[in-house]
Amino acid sequence: MKYPIALVMAVALPLLAVSCNQKKDEAPKSKYPVVDSLMSVMTLEEKIGQTVLFTSDWTVTGPSMRDNYLEDIRAGRCGSLLNAYTADFTREVQRVAVEETRLGIPILFGYDVIHGFRTIFPINLGMSCSWDLPAIERSARIAAEEAAAAGLQWTYSPMCDISVEPRWGRISEGSGEDPYLGSLIAAAMVRGYQGDDLSADNTLLACVKHYAAYGAPQGGRDYNTVDMSERWLREFYLPPYKAAVDAGALSVMASFNELDGVPAHANAHLMEDILRGEWGFEGFIVSDYTGIMEMINHGYAEDLADAARLSMNAGCDMDMMSAAYMNHLKELIESGKVSEATLDKAVRRILEVKAALGLFDDPYKYCDPEREKARTLTEENKAFARQFAAESMVLLKNDGILPLRRGEPVAVLGPLADSKDDLLGSWRGAGEVKSVPASVLGAIKSSSLVTSGASKVILVVGEPCSWSGEAASRSDIRLPKEQTEMLRQLKRNGKKVILVVMNGRPLDLSEESELADAILEAWYPGTMGGYAVADVIFGKVNPSGKLTTSFPRNLGQVPVYHYMKNTGRPYVHPEAKYESRYLDVVNEPLYPFGYGLSYTTFDYSGITLSADNFSGDGSLTATVTVTNTGDREGTETVQLYIRDLVGSVTRPVRQLKGFERVTLAPGESREVLFTIDAAMLSFWRADMSYGPEAGAFKLFIGGNAATQNEASFTYEN
Ligand code: BGC
Repeated sequence: MKYPIALVMAVALPLLAVSCNQKKDEAPKSKYPVVDSLMSVMTLEEKIGQTVLFTSDWTVTGPSMRDNYLEDIRAGRCGSLLNAYTADFTREVQRVAVEETRLGIPILFGYDVIHGFRTIFPINLGMSCSWDLPAIERSARIAAEEAAAAGLQWTYSPMCDISVEPRWGRISEGSGEDPYLGSLIAAAMVRGYQGDDLSADNTLLACVKHYAAYGAPQGGRDYNTVDMSERWLREFYLPPYKAAVDAGALSVMASFNELDGVPAHANAHLMEDILRGEWGFEGFIVSDYTGIMEMINHGYAEDLADAARLSMNAGCDMDMMSAAYMNHLKELIESGKVSEATLDKAVRRILEVKAALGLFDDPYKYCDPEREKARTLTEENKAFARQFAAESMVLLKNDGILPLRRGEPVAVLGPLADSKDDLLGSWRGAGEVKSVPASVLGAIKSSSLVTSGASKVILVVGEPCSWSGEAASRSDIRLPKEQTEMLRQLKRNGKKVILVVMNGRPLDLSEESELADAILEAWYPGTMGGYAVADVIFGKVNPSGKLTTSFPRNLGQVPVYHYMKNTGRPYVHPEAKYESRYLDVVNEPLYPFGYGLSYTTFDYSGITLSADNFSGDGSLTATVTVTNTGDREGTETVQLYIRDLVGSVTRPVRQLKGFERVTLAPGESREVLFTIDAAMLSFWRADMSYGPEAGAFKLFIGGNAATQNEASFTYEN
């Protein structure tokens, strides 16, 4: 490779001086010598430049604050760029950074590769409903292959925000309501993106976002205030971020919200105490888009300079789009409001990640147009996308009408029936409608006879995909009125209706669940989603998806989730007045967490425990036998929930603690065994230490969070 001359000169000459002065300066040593060398020769302006992230003019997810990013790069004012891709384009931008700046430090190119890059997979909420960790990891691996071949090194994913808030448009980007499952998925995605060699030309740096608790905005309104106890935060919201960090993610993005009155972008408790102090995070923290500047609106910073001071001092290393660091860090350092040592730490962290990505060895390694062509939208990627999309779908209702026979006449109606665009969902990366081979209608036409007078109707409804994602909150979570009216009319006319729903949030489907003969929750299923819907409807694929978010009966029930507390007056007697309940609706959601039907049926035996107690570091096993009692092969996700009956603080009525996917032939039985140990019983106790408490527990094993299949045991410390 051609090493940038400026860099060689700048780095090699001062190396000698650095090594002589090492003791005196006591400069921190990096495992990458190039980082130490650069740090020793960088001017204040050059250091500040490394903390600056701007967008190109390709696509933006917010206001573009800079007209001429190339000028900024050339002047050393901008060290990273988002929204620039393709091997050719990034090569040209990289050339400017490497050949036209004094030190030739390569640019880090970032992008929102959220559920695929060119080959688009189901939205993340849909992916999570597969409960298939290897498949989720593979989707991230493919996304990384495609994106890295297009010049990118950094994805703003995984989104680790737990949410029980269906009004919030970004619930679509996460993995649902459960911290345990969310943690496993976050780690799987990091493994998929980063692989085991970050410097390989087919891996991406992961960015854990949005840190922290962005999924709990008041009223479900995007960017809104978040407030919760430290205990609730740690128990239910922080685990997926931590799991992603533990899996090796080397960047984290701060969230737009405030928490306990302090915007996340200046929240040293989150960034320094927890993320770096407790979790040992060694990568860098990036702001969200203009997140630093927004602290002025929050009423936390006086002006942009103040915002830069607060953010840098709290531990946020890189400024996305506020130009706060670029315009103000120099004066802040000169006036002593930010120490140069603080800036140095931030710059080191960023340079170390650039080094880990191999950018100093070969800044152009990600810019190969031939590889880009060969690795993108391959037949193999599309075949996997089709299979994964079908796996993410959840069959919510089936009175026996599904699966349809291939070739039988059906009508295909509804506003989303012939939409290719909506299949892709929001945050579709570089996915394009022209790469979508078929809408649902198009795919069904290839499997069946679409006739207008058919007695069976596939009605494809839902939310247009622009109703999900960022800045897409809704105050009404029902289907658009005219869609429900279509369903009513079809039923009045005596039709059998299979409702296919595409959406990015749990919807209130109360009326539809009464009227429709079958309901398939298809989410936004991605590039191959049309075929995947047809695969499920015609039985080529037996549905196996299970909800990772409870579907409420109406918005008034929200939040409704499976790890609720019991209260002092739990709802047990349907006729009693003074219990924790509504007058007009039951407490249970319409479809609980973990729920989803199959074209076969599964029977669960009672639970057998290896012992009825254990202590200390010991364990016991809980076993059930699951039998496929139907007449076709199917996959069941067997779920384990635990309840701690009495705690030093109150405990949820159940918490997911394990699951296993089993595929069974008709009539086949399988024993599924879970090992229960102290780690599974641990929580943030009254004194905020983390661990188990002695006492009585219940465990539940079944096909969803409402299972009544239970057993009891005790634990001694
Ligand atoms: C979003 C982030 C995204 C960033 C860059 C922001 O508006 O909140 O999730 O990564 O834009 O596109």
